[in-house]
Amino acid sequence: MRVLTGIQPSGALHLGNYFGAMLPAISLQDQGEAFYFIADYHSMTTLTDGAKRRQYTLDVALDWLAAGLDPKRCVFWKQSDTPEHTELAWLLSTLTPMGLLERCHSYKDKVAKLADGDAGAVNHGLFAYPVLMAADILLYDTNVVPVGRDQKQHLEVTRDIAIKFNNTYGETFVVPEPRIQESVAVVPGTDGQKMSKSYGNTLELHGEEKPLRKRVMSIQMDSRTPEEPKPDADKNIAIQLLKLLAAPDVAADYENRLRAGGLGYGDLKKALFEQYWNRFADFRARRAELAAKPEYVREVLADGAARARVVAQKTLARAKHACGLD
Ligand code: TRP
Repeated sequence: MRVLTGIQPSGALHLGNYFGAMLPAISLQDQGEAFYFIADYHSMTTLTDGAKRRQYTLDVALDWLAAGLDPKRCVFWKQSDTPEHTELAWLLSTLTPMGLLERCHSYKDKVAKLADGDAGAVNHGLFAYPVLMAADILLYDTNVVPVGRDQKQHLEVTRDIAIKFNNTYGETFVVPEPRIQESVAVVPGTDGQKMSKSYGNTLELHGEEKPLRKRVMSIQMDSRTPEEPKPDADKNIAIQLLKLLAAPDVAADYENRLRAGGLGYGDLKKALFEQYWNRFADFRARRAELAAKPEYVREVLADGAARARVVAQKTLARAKHACGLD
């Protein structure tokens, strides 16, 4: 079974990324042949600062390697080192109905957001993004694509394109199955909404102790006194985060104390910070070690790209042959 997923280089990773995408992908390393790439071509549809892209790409590589991605057990590389993606995207785009892309929610949402300020910011890449994503997937004969719910429609587009190509030019591509991570806990941000960079409510995996402590202490709570029993303790943001970060008995103990009354929000948040800080102590140490050897990280990505390219070139040659391009 070949598993593939793309990782957006979108800056420092936070707990939402960690529990939603990283941990599941890391555990899938042992269940199949895992191909994980940093989607730097994709990032161009929204980010137009080269220095930032370079920095984010390195950051995301450091985060994933420090979190337990093992380049011996998976193929880990950056997309632009395998330019076959863009060539295949062209072949696929000639079979992709405009209407299929016009219906994509993520495109419509981005257009709606951008249109308020700057209609010129709606670029063709943004529109064609799902075709590049289809190329990413089909190039590696992928069987399973673990993604969040927001990517479900893009996977349907990939399947449609693969089927259409196979019908038009003969059996060429494996039609992939989505693995939507419905069961993954929604990680609440400091304001109680889903943790997301665009809401500015994130807790990063690493950073300086003081500002991170401040972020945790800023988590919004209500105005009930410490003594008051809180029958809704399970809805409390700090409790929900503790359940993800701390040992189950520790989290349960805090939840019970909050429910019974007598535990103040300040003390609860202090405990949450300690658990959060300790949970990522090893991660921070490994990350610092890796950050001190950027050469090593570059080598890992180059080696991954070389391995990915062998597969990508084979599939692209097959597709070009099917189209009569050779
Ligand atoms: N679009 C995905 C996201 O925003 C990232 C991505 C790009 C991807 N190419 C992919 C995911 C291929 C899975 C497979 O998260």
